[in-house]
Amino acid sequence: MSKPRTILAIDTSCDETSVAVVRGTVILSNIIASQAQLHAPYGGVFPTVAKQAHAENIAPAVAKALKMASIDWNEIDAIAVTQGPGLAPALEVGIRHAKMLAEKYQKPLLPVNHIEGHVLSVLAQPNSEKSSETSPQLPVLALVVSGGHTEFLLVEAFGSYQRLGQTIDDAAGEALDKFGRMVNLGYPAGPIVEKFAKLGDSSAYDFPLPMTTSGDFNLSFSGLKTFARNLIKKIKLDQNAPLTQQQIYDLCASFQTAVFRHITHKLTKLLEEIYQPDTGLPIAELWLGGGVAANVALRQTLRQTLKDFSSQKRLKKTISLKTPYTKKLCGDNAAMIGVVASLNKNLENDVNFEREPRLKI
Ligand code: KG4
Ligand code: ZN
Repeated sequence: MSKPRTILAIDTSCDETSVAVVRGTVILSNIIASQAQLHAPYGGVFPTVAKQAHAENIAPAVAKALKMASIDWNEIDAIAVTQGPGLAPALEVGIRHAKMLAEKYQKPLLPVNHIEGHVLSVLAQPNSEKSSETSPQLPVLALVVSGGHTEFLLVEAFGSYQRLGQTIDDAAGEALDKFGRMVNLGYPAGPIVEKFAKLGDSSAYDFPLPMTTSGDFNLSFSGLKTFARNLIKKIKLDQNAPLTQQQIYDLCASFQTAVFRHITHKLTKLLEEIYQPDTGLPIAELWLGGGVAANVALRQTLRQTLKDFSSQKRLKKTISLKTPYTKKLCGDNAAMIGVVASLNKNLENDVNFEREPRLKI
């Protein structure tokens, strides 16, 4: 086995300025300067504000990441940076800084796909004596659920992915954020919806299950969002008063359940599709990544779905859910970009690439 490379990674795809140092899949540092508070008044990410904040944060974040990792520039083997997808002005700041550093320190520069980062985030390891070489049994199924993406992917090899289904409108996190705006939860609403859902009754309101008749594995959350908007309007009109706190809790629980039920419904359908009566299931694991992957209720419902499917098909082993070892790796972060640079051997030094806001995996 060759010695793992030490990589300085940068991600400025959305509203976090993140810089990490990884050695192979081991995280030596993972600095995240969040701009959430700056964007909160707008109820979403404001691109020009993001650009300016990235520009202010990037150099200090690089210095901090190196310092925390106790790594000197001469120990860095390569620089990795998110090429896309993401907000164009935000991506630009990270890419420009990475190009400058690659030139200044004469290091190879590796452009990385942000979604691939979320997919492989489950393989990141803490810096401890127990960390070891990563060689999972592939293929596996991956589910990326974030503010910008919701997709099912087949991971055939590092660098080789097949998209099996994706949202045709909003991402799951985006739907949670937009629902949160309807009940004034602040931005980003996903974590608050999770907290409030624990205090509410998930069967209080009956949300529909989207796209039951479509034969594919795509998802759609915009119908749930519209249903929520109409429901809230009707409740307020009927009682001629604003929502009570308990109604907000109940709405959070019911909406969150509806979003996750749609995901698990499509997951079951997908597993049915790839299951072969003679050979069984070609995958043993489901890898979960992206901001919404931090949600404990989502993890529980996915585990239950995998357990139910495994016992229904009498699989020898239950399909296991793999999540990043810390919640910090679910949301946007540069360590996952470094992990991709370590594992995907197809990546090549390129100092002339441009940002790709709509890059696909
Ligand atoms: O991966 P991420 O940081 O950024 C994108 O690449 O989009 O994901 C951010 C999304 C936001 O929509 C946020 O509300 C959601 O992840 N999120 C959560 C939780 N934590 C973050 N959604 C539900 N439950 C959570 N605990
Ligand atoms: Zn992301």
